[in-house]
Amino acid sequence: MPADEARIEDLRRRKAQAEAGGGQARIAAQHSKGKMTARERIDQLLDEGSFMEVDPLVEHRCRDFDMDRNVIPGDGVVCGHGTIDGRTVYCFAQDFTVYGGSLGEMHGLKICKILDMALKTGSPVIGLNDSGGARIQEGVASLGSYAEIFFRNVRASGVIPQISVIMGPCAGGAVYSPAITDFVVMVDKTSHMFITGPEVIKTVTNEEVSFEDLGGANTHASKSGVTHFTTEDDQEAIDVVRELVGLLPSNNLEKPVPLPTSDPIDRKSEELQDLVPDDPKKPYDIMTAVTEVVDDGAFLEVQQDFARNIVVGFGRLGGHTVGVVANQPEVLAGCLDIDASVKAARFVRFCDAFNIPLLTFVDVPGFLPGASQEWGGIIRHGAKLLYAYAEATVPKLTVITRKAYGGAYDVMSSKHIRGDYNIGWPTAQLAVMGAEGAVQIIHKRRIESSGNPEQERGRLVDDYTETFANPYRAAALGYLDDVIQPRETRMVMSKALGALLEKEEIRPARKHGNIPL
Ligand code: HXC
Repeated sequence: MPADEARIEDLRRRKAQAEAGGGQARIAAQHSKGKMTARERIDQLLDEGSFMEVDPLVEHRCRDFDMDRNVIPGDGVVCGHGTIDGRTVYCFAQDFTVYGGSLGEMHGLKICKILDMALKTGSPVIGLNDSGGARIQEGVASLGSYAEIFFRNVRASGVIPQISVIMGPCAGGAVYSPAITDFVVMVDKTSHMFITGPEVIKTVTNEEVSFEDLGGANTHASKSGVTHFTTEDDQEAIDVVRELVGLLPSNNLEKPVPLPTSDPIDRKSEELQDLVPDDPKKPYDIMTAVTEVVDDGAFLEVQQDFARNIVVGFGRLGGHTVGVVANQPEVLAGCLDIDASVKAARFVRFCDAFNIPLLTFVDVPGFLPGASQEWGGIIRHGAKLLYAYAEATVPKLTVITRKAYGGAYDVMSSKHIRGDYNIGWPTAQLAVMGAEGAVQIIHKRRIESSGNPEQERGRLVDDYTETFANPYRAAALGYLDDVIQPRETRMVMSKALGALLEKEEIRPARKHGNIPL
């Protein structure tokens, strides 16, 4: 064979070896679990034909445990870049068929190269995780590479969007890279995340818990709040990532790309007119308000099964991406508790970092009372949300639909912490607390000494309601920019957003603030 042909053949053989991963038997095992391979996942994630692989020929250099006799080009992770809807993204996909997707020194350094390139070019980075964790044979070199990844995740935080998809095991310290990234997507049943597995837990604490209950997608979606999206299978996870990337800018110096809409910005929503019940204790679904206001009713809810007393997610208003935060009166009456505060605070900070305007719907009776909340630190956790809103310099639009009571009024994007355009519906009530509680405190003696306490209480409640349980005191003070008919909310907020899109707000220079963690 001529020398040139031999070289071509050699290159072809090496590339084919890299593409074959751990071989047909392991690929079949992967498919039998309902999982795609790393390359299939990347094919689905990126626009057709856009993938350019980086480092397919990297090999590990471990000489222990006979590893030198088991070298697979690519080292168990497929890395590169491509496009989603024509916009560049960087990605890596761990290949479970090669050493169980375990992360050795070179595998980790391949991921680091991708993170570095994404940061240099200001592009989102997407990690498809499916790994047995630190490669045991490589010892501390694996841990070193993990830490290099963590360092880069932190450096890129707030600069480029980072998305982690968990499509298999993710255990031990390996969980911390996804945890640092902005969004975690977990595939139901086939993915698990935990620091220590069921067997170690049994030994240490004597608790018995299954893989699924300990670290399955539903657990992290509803109990821990670790995951932001749960999907049925790999394909749905990839679809969520594509949708999410479409809503986000590529980096913190850009704005999200607007998407022209055929939904008129002056569309009136009759459904909102009677959304708020007359009885202030009666719940209603705030999602109706959210979906009536955003373009085409399209809303990508984030962490939908965690802290359901607050709704967060992305939609568009007049084509522009907005981050929506809304108290949900259907759950815990819309009270802010620890989980809701943390959930919303992280979301608000993400939006602020990536130039995404905030649209807040307020119906909040206050912070959730109770010893467990106090002992759990509702003071410092609630402060996170206050801090996040006050710190945010993106356009902040606020709609008060009903209750805006007490400290929670201040926290929820109020004028005082620099809400840019705040409106109330005629049903809005801005007050220190609800009528019943207030009357009981300020008129206790008067009620007790009255000949007819119940009648007196009723009269005083009516008085208080008349005076405070409306938006007009606040509007008179300029704390609300206007009071509008609910049906006009989309039109008014679209116009307000249009006028605020070029908003700039400078804050004092500092290394970083000290958010109460
Ligand atoms: C090297 C590994 C590996 C690992 C799996 N494999 N995990 N090789 N290092 N960490 C290999 C197996 O030897 C096997 O090789 C192949 O991957 C598939 O593994 P199986 O066990 O056959 O698959 P399955 O039954 O599906 O079980 C998957 C698993 C299990 C649950 C992930 O392999 C497992 O428990 N692995 C160890 C997990 C772990 O403890 N990792 C360390 C976590 S601590 P062959 O050749 O047979 O196909 C950690 C610290 C990170 O990661 C610290 C960061 C700071």
